[in-house]
Amino acid sequence: MDDVPFRGIVEQSLAGIYVVLDERFMYANDTFVAMFGYGRDEFVGRRMVDCVTPDSADEVMQNYRRRISGEVQAIHYFTKGLRKDGQIVHLELHASRVECRGRPALAGVALDVTERVNAQEDLRRSREQLRQLAKHSNAAREVEREKLAREVHDVLGGMLTSAKFDVSRIVRRTATAELAELNGIATELVTLMQDTIDAARTISDQMRPASLDLLGLGTALRQALERFGARHGVEVSVAIPADAVSLPADMATPIFRIVQEALTNVARHARASRVELVVEHGPDSFALSLRDNGVGLDVGAKRQGSIGLFSMAERARDIGASLQVRACLAGGTELKLHLPLPAVMGVALA
Ligand SMILES: Nc1ncnc2c1ncn2[C@@H]1O[C@H](COP(=O)(O)OP(=O)(O)OP(=O)(O)O)[C@@H](O)[C@H]1O
Ligand SMILES: [Mg+2]
Repeated sequence: MDDVPFRGIVEQSLAGIYVVLDERFMYANDTFVAMFGYGRDEFVGRRMVDCVTPDSADEVMQNYRRRISGEVQAIHYFTKGLRKDGQIVHLELHASRVECRGRPALAGVALDVTERVNAQEDLRRSREQLRQLAKHSNAAREVEREKLAREVHDVLGGMLTSAKFDVSRIVRRTATAELAELNGIATELVTLMQDTIDAARTISDQMRPASLDLLGLGTALRQALERFGARHGVEVSVAIPADAVSLPADMATPIFRIVQEALTNVARHARASRVELVVEHGPDSFALSLRDNGVGLDVGAKRQGSIGLFSMAERARDIGASLQVRACLAGGTELKLHLPLPAVMGVALA
């Protein structure tokens, strides 16, 4: 090995290489020195602790002492170096104990992983922004739906009811032989008005089910499933315990929306003939599973721009629930939601 030109290899290495003796850099190759933005002459002799950020200093010195004392031979870790210009350089280090001038020293190899760390940080930040956006858009949609539902129900419904009342008066006033034609038209109008009132109520209820506020989550879910079954010709089965946990509106509404979104997915993608909803509760948790017997979730086939599952996950996360949507082994897709409850919550949901 004596004839291997180690010095040349070390000097040209694309990885930073250094030796620390008595807590100071006694050797560093050009690559390592460049990571810190110093000239080589300025760098050699600097204290190791001065070349890392203050919040990394303790860990760096502890790792140094553990190797110098012989407690461990080598350590592989990440730290933040401090460049001459004050910028941070993220480093991946592997250094081990060696003998140098008869004393224990460290010989190490370093990689500059700043780009990777920054990219990870950017990714984390943009995920967080996406989450905030989903949260904001869910909340805004909820407010908008509630407002529209109320307008349709109260304003439009009220106006239609008054109009129906007036037309009914016309029906009564035209109940004579000579006004038979007018009476016939007015009678048909009453039926049309009633159908319109029913349609307005259904639209309002789909936007924000009155039962969610008046009768609770259990009833709202049962009604949503039954309506879904009737509309799509799908057999539904609902198991909700009569005395399920009563959830506050800020938990019940997101859960209801998650089930609504999942049902929309069943209608759009599953080609199922049966949907099963099971709600279980204990004193300290609320659990819900919605299962269809359709084609099953194909994770690879995710359409670009689809946000349904993402938005469901965010709603769940927002209330501290866990949510899983996955293909079942037996076929079909299953959604499972689990919400741990604070000890103080009472009972009764349906
Ligand atoms: N119950 C289901 N059965 C089969 N496939 C499903 C089911 N639910 C979801 N998927 C699949 O998962 C994909 C993602 O669902 P997601 O709700 O996120 O988006 P989407 O329904 O396509 O669009 P949107 O953003 O309007 O909800 C769907 O495109 C579909 O391929
Ligand atoms: Mg969807």
